[in-house]
Amino acid sequence: MQSEEIRKSFLEFFRTRGHAVVPSSSLVPDDPSVLLTTAGMQQFKRYFTGEMDAKKDYGSASVVSVQKCFRTSDIDEVGDKTHLTFFEMLGNFSFGLSGQGGKKEAIQYAHQYLTEILGINPERITVTVFAGDNPPAGGVPYDSESFDVWHKDIGLAADKISKHDRKDNFWGPTGNEGPCGPTTEIYVDGVEVWNLVFNQYYQQKDKTLEKLKTSGVDTGMGFERLTAMLQGVEDVFATDLFEPLIKKINETAPHLKDREVRIIADHLRSSVFLAADGVRPSNKEAGYILRRLLRRVLAYQVLYDIHGDILADAAKIVKEKFGAFYPEVANPEILEVLESERDKFQRAIALGIKELPKYKTLTAKDAFYLYETFGLPWELIAELAPAAAKNLVRKDFEEEFSKHQEISRAGVEKKFGGHGLLLDTGELKAKDENELNKVVRLHTATHLLQAALRKVLGNEVQQRGSDITAERTRFDFAFPRKLTAEEIKKAEILVNEIIEKDLPVQFKEMPKEEAAKTGALYFFKEKYPDKVKVYYVGRSLGDAFSKEFCGGPHVSNTLVIGKFKIAKEEAVGSGVRRIRATVGGIE
Ligand code: SER
Repeated sequence: MQSEEIRKSFLEFFRTRGHAVVPSSSLVPDDPSVLLTTAGMQQFKRYFTGEMDAKKDYGSASVVSVQKCFRTSDIDEVGDKTHLTFFEMLGNFSFGLSGQGGKKEAIQYAHQYLTEILGINPERITVTVFAGDNPPAGGVPYDSESFDVWHKDIGLAADKISKHDRKDNFWGPTGNEGPCGPTTEIYVDGVEVWNLVFNQYYQQKDKTLEKLKTSGVDTGMGFERLTAMLQGVEDVFATDLFEPLIKKINETAPHLKDREVRIIADHLRSSVFLAADGVRPSNKEAGYILRRLLRRVLAYQVLYDIHGDILADAAKIVKEKFGAFYPEVANPEILEVLESERDKFQRAIALGIKELPKYKTLTAKDAFYLYETFGLPWELIAELAPAAAKNLVRKDFEEEFSKHQEISRAGVEKKFGGHGLLLDTGELKAKDENELNKVVRLHTATHLLQAALRKVLGNEVQQRGSDITAERTRFDFAFPRKLTAEEIKKAEILVNEIIEKDLPVQFKEMPKEEAAKTGALYFFKEKYPDKVKVYYVGRSLGDAFSKEFCGGPHVSNTLVIGKFKIAKEEAVGSGVRRIRATVGGIE
């Protein structure tokens, strides 16, 4: 059976049994306690609690849907035959039932659909039911009713019904609170296909369970897995759902291993669906998930030398395969989103790749810095600097990553009321990689400007402050009078000469006193740690054009800065002047 027919038959089966057909809700839920839609029941949470009335909204207290879902929990497993990030879930739901209501009907429907509509031999079916647990584990009783329906009404032999505890046969809630309850799971040939949840409880934030006033039915059947089973394959990527995309990736990059092909296929398909629902790559929440998926694909593209336009191919193929059922994937904006992220990624990693030779050995912290500052993915770091990355362990990198996420979440919220900034050194601010690339170029240009001003005007010039955004640098310095047009021109020309020489930008770390002796400039208002980095522009620290105490980040070579231009010179107080300047490509 083709996937399209399976969806149709499922909706039709329940529609003819009084269920209203409800379209999939967006992958971006309106429930703030979850990042993305992870289950079919999510859009119906308030019908289970009784806050909303399905009869009024859908004309029936039972509904059926095919729901777009996304789970990050399996992201690292993707690459085998069964795990996916984006997937579809077939589900039927009933609300406002009395007592333990709805179990018999739900189980009978499920059995009937599998055996009569899909033609699965009943012999292949085994099930599990909830064994019950006692306080303090929860005090939810054994689900004898489900057992009886399977055994007495359906006629399933008792040895085909196994009983399991809370960890296996109790579902929910999604997010940090919500409806949940005991489950009965259906297996075909030992593979779980369908999860029937009887929502009889509401789990509070503190994990206590309260009985819901009315009970409900929430079932979920993983669509890709079911399709694989019906098409006689073990591998979800071998179903008609993935066939065209896999074929295209194999054609474009015949040298890839199955695992890589599957990762690329999963991540591209997921990216298209996320973008279709309005998610945009960013550094937080759902946007960050999309960025991570895309960047993994883009890193593979560099790493395995994949030519061909896989983003455009994916957008087209997903549209052809899924557009009839999910019209939102036909939106031409999706490809623009993917391509703009690709462009950002390419600019950022080009800078990052240049940083790599600076390291003799890479620690997890270094690898994380390279990732955070330049978007250089772990896979690329390990591949491009194998000697330096020899002792790098992925787990340590992941630890750095989660440590940072916690810190930055707390920090960002405090400072910006939740508006995320990728980089904020006080002096430099950037909200994404694109901005980061610009502020890094402007930052090195600012060092060059200070050195040039001292050459043109003398050592009276001393930094008083600076502020760099993605648009411009603003540099304040002590100087007693207005600059002449000629002095401004001279400084500008000098900076551009250095840029064109493509000098390396490097740093040496040393004790503060020693650093001061090198003649490196430092900003007197700043408190420096005992050990500082001296960033210098030139082949060696001795004959550097510019040297300053600084934490970075900087470009690796000056040419990437682009054309430097002083836009304005003005006074900002007595004896303090201010220059605003831009670099090429920054409008
Ligand atoms: N909510 C359950 C699940 O996601 C059944 O739909 O498995």
